[in-house]
Amino acid sequence: MSTEAVPALPPEHPLTDGRTADSPLLRALRGERTGSRAVWFMRQAGRSLPEYRAAREGVGMLESCLRPDLAAEITLQPVRRHHVDAAIFFSDIVVPLRLAGVDVDIVAGRGPVLDTPVRTAADVAALPSVDDVDFTAIRDAVRLTVAELGTTPLIGFAGAPFTLAAYMVEGGPSRDHLGPRTLMHADPETWRALTSWAADLSGAFLRAQLEAGASACQLFDSWAGSLSAADYEAQAAPASARAFAHVADLPVPRLHFGTGTSELLPAMHAAGATAVGVDYRLPLDEASRRLGGDVPLQGNIDPALLAAPWEVLEEHVRDVLRRGDVAPGHVVNLGHGVPPHTDPDVLTRIVELVHEVPQ
Ligand code: CP3
Repeated sequence: MSTEAVPALPPEHPLTDGRTADSPLLRALRGERTGSRAVWFMRQAGRSLPEYRAAREGVGMLESCLRPDLAAEITLQPVRRHHVDAAIFFSDIVVPLRLAGVDVDIVAGRGPVLDTPVRTAADVAALPSVDDVDFTAIRDAVRLTVAELGTTPLIGFAGAPFTLAAYMVEGGPSRDHLGPRTLMHADPETWRALTSWAADLSGAFLRAQLEAGASACQLFDSWAGSLSAADYEAQAAPASARAFAHVADLPVPRLHFGTGTSELLPAMHAAGATAVGVDYRLPLDEASRRLGGDVPLQGNIDPALLAAPWEVLEEHVRDVLRRGDVAPGHVVNLGHGVPPHTDPDVLTRIVELVHEVPQ
């Protein structure tokens, strides 16, 4: 009997053939402090770039995510322009919903909107089977992207079940997420069924991206901060763990990020993440302390400071680097996404600064 492990990723995968294995991103996510620092930006592809606005002209958001050539081109734009250390796959957390046949659209300036909200046991039972979802367009876009990226890793992502379910229950964006927060207590069985469905869908979406060539993955739980720690642990974390379990056999780092999560970081790590993204509210040295000091971190430049004078921003970035030095590994990023009106030259300048500062 052979004792050799069966490779879980194909031989032509950039982690298997070595292209991205020792990149700054992968090193930082392994907790190593050698070579240059790694930096990328959440929402680095998007409206802050004139080339993005040109590429998207006349094409709907979801349509552009499902056209492999366009999704690959938009994913590559910020890498070419800013020389960031990772690409984030251009897609959206609701793309798998659309692929599953759920009637969802993304309204510019507003966000995801569903024709029919999902609120009852019957609504959940009527959801399409996750097993039948065809991720061919996603796999094709990832392959096209990775072929151009060379040694720069691609990060695949998905929405965490709570954030996805929040859109499904509300039928659109909301401020307080009252609908999902009521449902989880009023009808816990339906809530569990809905978040399990969302976990399997997001897990399959992550797996499709990783198998096709992504070298790391991130679960976005953008709205987890609307939950108490007790509700997060009981009603959201189990489904996030279920999503991560879909890719736990693959030799790739797993990032977990949300906003307003200062009290949730240990539970987010325990859900199956190998590294934790921190929003701008909590300094990284304190985040590291809360996580026991041995978890690689990502974050957490305040997006508001992108519009401040360079001297103010530079001092802030240097402070983020100093505090991040407390963690075993640090991937420099924002504490949430790039605001649409950001001057892209500021992002390029941050990348240059981060690459200049030795670690
Ligand atoms: O560069 C990248 O980060 C790549 C792709 C990406 C998008 N959405 C593209 C997008 C990623 C990682 C996401 C994740 C996403 N989508 C999240 C989690 C991250 C976060 O920001 O908290 C959430 C909550 C969504 C849902 C969603 N989709 C929202 C709230 C919006 C914004 C609505 C608006 O117009 O302001 C979208 C639309 C969306 N997703 C855009 C982009 C580039 C803007 C659409 C456009 O360009 O017209």
